Amino acid sequence: MNTATDLLTPQGVAAAQAGYQSGFGNEFATEALSGALPVGRNSPQKAPYGLYAEQISGTAFTAPRSHNRRSWLYRIRPAAVHLPFRQIDAGGIVGDFAAVPPTPPNQLRWDPLPMPVAPTDFIEGWVTMAGNGSAESMNGCAIHMYAANRSMQGRFFYSADGELLIVPQEGRLHLATEFGLIDVAPQEIAVIPRGCRFRVELPDGQARGYICENFGALLQLPDLGPIGSNGLANPRDFLTPHAWYEDVEGEFELVAKLHGHLWSAPIRHSPLDVVAWHGSYAPCKYDLRLFNTIGSISYDHPDPSIFLVLQSPSDTPGVDAIDFVIFPPRWLVAEDTFRPPWFHRNVASEFMGLIHGAYDAKAEGFVPGGASLHNCMSGHGPDAETFEKASAADTARPHKVADTMAFMFETRTVIKPTRFALESSQLQSEYFRCSQDIKKNFNPERK
Ligand SMILES: [Fe+2]
Repeated sequence: MNTATDLLTPQGVAAAQAGYQSGFGNEFATEALSGALPVGRNSPQKAPYGLYAEQISGTAFTAPRSHNRRSWLYRIRPAAVHLPFRQIDAGGIVGDFAAVPPTPPNQLRWDPLPMPVAPTDFIEGWVTMAGNGSAESMNGCAIHMYAANRSMQGRFFYSADGELLIVPQEGRLHLATEFGLIDVAPQEIAVIPRGCRFRVELPDGQARGYICENFGALLQLPDLGPIGSNGLANPRDFLTPHAWYEDVEGEFELVAKLHGHLWSAPIRHSPLDVVAWHGSYAPCKYDLRLFNTIGSISYDHPDPSIFLVLQSPSDTPGVDAIDFVIFPPRWLVAEDTFRPPWFHRNVASEFMGLIHGAYDAKAEGFVPGGASLHNCMSGHGPDAETFEKASAADTARPHKVADTMAFMFETRTVIKPTRFALESSQLQSEYFRCSQDIKKNFNPERK
């Protein structure tokens, strides 16, 4: 039998690292003990090794086969084995976006959250910046940022509100999940399904990043249309862990998130006790640097939908509830073209973060770990310096946008900042100035 502390040492983490299975939403099959996975049926009268069979469904039973996601878990104890939950302080988590202050149509931007001083684990380190819809209606999302300096010790977490798209910005995360072990570093992402129990360890001692908690339809790879059968995020680059388990008993805590509230239940064993599993509902990771970026090789800057990594579709064809978009290193070659992102106003709303380097539309003020929010029909675009530089650039020559990784959570409905976000000392009250320097060039005498 392992002990929980074995896994908190760097040696333990390294020893526990396992390989991954390749593909997005595949029918995976994996076992940590030979013969633990039943053959030919999901729920045999007696499962191998005295394990319990348990299904976890991520979509309705009757969802079309192409969208149906579920897995069968073979575990030491069923998920039901824990004592009753009691509500606990949710800290910086906001669950009711109907109760946040009125959303200003201003362009908003924030400095990075400071690292905590007091010992703070991954769950304690969440602060909700914004969101829309509600977990109750299973529609919309919450956008959290996390800053933590302590591994989760003796406690485990799951969100019943949505799947978690985790975007680390600083520090690696070691995710010990029911489905196996995932190591994720800045410039990679992890997707943890709704309901998946996990523990987060911090191999670098501290960590900071962004989370989009998707209340709605599961994230999926977009159709490629005329792009063809390859490109953007390629399915084989998504990695799902092999089965792994710990057989540990002790006085532990299971924390659940439901309707934006946190609940705690005593549990006398590790729930990370799945010895084998098969199915299509499982966590995964993806290295954003593997994104096959596609752009114009003639003129004009395409719409940023060309940078789409994952989408949560809405009930309206062609309209996503959430798009996860990245702005990775790439060549700009369009001739006679203003090459940075153009000035624009969109019906969609845009929460951006910067993981690494600089963002090509904003030379100043948008720093790694920071964030910006441009809501429905709020005008925005390059700052004055970027406009001047790009307007004078020699477009006969290609230009490499290097050393950068920015991303956007783009949503169909307005992203409502929380009171914390609007009153935080990280809010840049002078952000509006970057568009005040944009000067009038109009001269009717000169074409
Ligand atoms: Fe934008």
